[in-house]
Amino acid sequence: MTGSSAPSDSTKSPWHLAARCARMNPSVIREILKLTELPGVRSLAGGLPSAETFPVEAMREATAKVLAENPREALQYAASEGFAPLREWVSAKMTAAGIDAPADRVLITSGSQQGLDLIGKVMLDAGSTVAVETPTYLGALQAFNPNEPRFASVAGDNDGPLPDAVAALERGTRFMYVLPNFQNPTGRVIPDARRDEIVAAAQRAGVPLVEDNPYGDLWYDQAPPKPIASRWSEGTLYLGSFSKVLAPGLRLGYMICPKPLYPKLLQSKQAADLHTAGFNQRLVYEVIRNGFLDQHVPTIRDRYRTQRDAMATALKAHMPAGSEWQAPSGGMFFWVRMPAGCDALALLPKAVEAGVAYVPGSAFYADQPDARTARLSFVTLSPADIEDAVSRLGAVLKAHLATAVAA
Ligand SMILES: Cc1ncc(COP(=O)(O)O)c(C=O)c1O
Repeated sequence: MTGSSAPSDSTKSPWHLAARCARMNPSVIREILKLTELPGVRSLAGGLPSAETFPVEAMREATAKVLAENPREALQYAASEGFAPLREWVSAKMTAAGIDAPADRVLITSGSQQGLDLIGKVMLDAGSTVAVETPTYLGALQAFNPNEPRFASVAGDNDGPLPDAVAALERGTRFMYVLPNFQNPTGRVIPDARRDEIVAAAQRAGVPLVEDNPYGDLWYDQAPPKPIASRWSEGTLYLGSFSKVLAPGLRLGYMICPKPLYPKLLQSKQAADLHTAGFNQRLVYEVIRNGFLDQHVPTIRDRYRTQRDAMATALKAHMPAGSEWQAPSGGMFFWVRMPAGCDALALLPKAVEAGVAYVPGSAFYADQPDARTARLSFVTLSPADIEDAVSRLGAVLKAHLATAVAA
């Protein structure tokens, strides 16, 4: 089937696809990444948290409690806005972070990925402009793309988007999507002063901001600066998630919506799935209501910090001269730029053959990808396996560079 609205050959199939399906191409990268599941491949490609961090016992206890105390309510249809006590909890957490976040503007979503999808539906028309970082989260590009927008890639440096590039965005840009903390894929953090500059530039350009923050609690050196939404509350829509601090299988996230957007986001949420699983919402509320995350999240930080350090050491030891990276101060990823002459996508099959996989960075660009970049996750392998995987990667790159010089 093709991604076109033209009638297909009726002798073959009665189905017609909407034109927007042309924007839903399976990525080459996803196809290649299937290879990473082959036995013997040490995968640095995953975007998953470590399953070792999932609080199984706390979930078990909370499940028993919810089923004992409110079984019928938990299993019934529920409000589209979300479970009221959970919305109150989110409101309190976000208010403490400096955001204007009354509970009646909290919308519980089925993961923050659903939030991105709803935002795309509510705010993008075919041909309208959405600004994104260079590079940005692949899943956001996928969520926005079916609405047929035009992407404006905002230039950046190690401190995030450049304020001048934000100020130069065209009027009418529907929003700029920004990941201030331990960005997926680069791991970068936008420093405090740059956040103020971005807000001032966005205000000048008349472009509102969508702030996505699934990694903010996963800091290993120091907590990140105050959220962007605390600096411009009417002009920022904030997304949060329980995926990285509890478990992604719960599919639980939230949005703090500026007042004028709330009714439409709520209606599109109703149309999408009526509500986020009420059972999961009650379960998570039961787990977190008495400060569980204050003890749990530091254990995740300790684990990931050790793995981050192992990858930093391994990269230093094994990557060929001309490689570039910065150790992230939080999150789950290193962003590596291979030496000139290396194409991360072209080299992936060789790397997989050598027993290591990564995500080629080109997947994370709306346009003009940097072919030398790759994203390496450090959270799912042990320090010893990280060392092994990075040494294999280094060997593949060195062998490639040696043949390139010889040729
Ligand atoms: C930047 C970013 N936003 C959103 C998501 C989606 O998270 P969730 O599990 O809450 O849908 C991810 C998942 O990896 C992510 O990296």
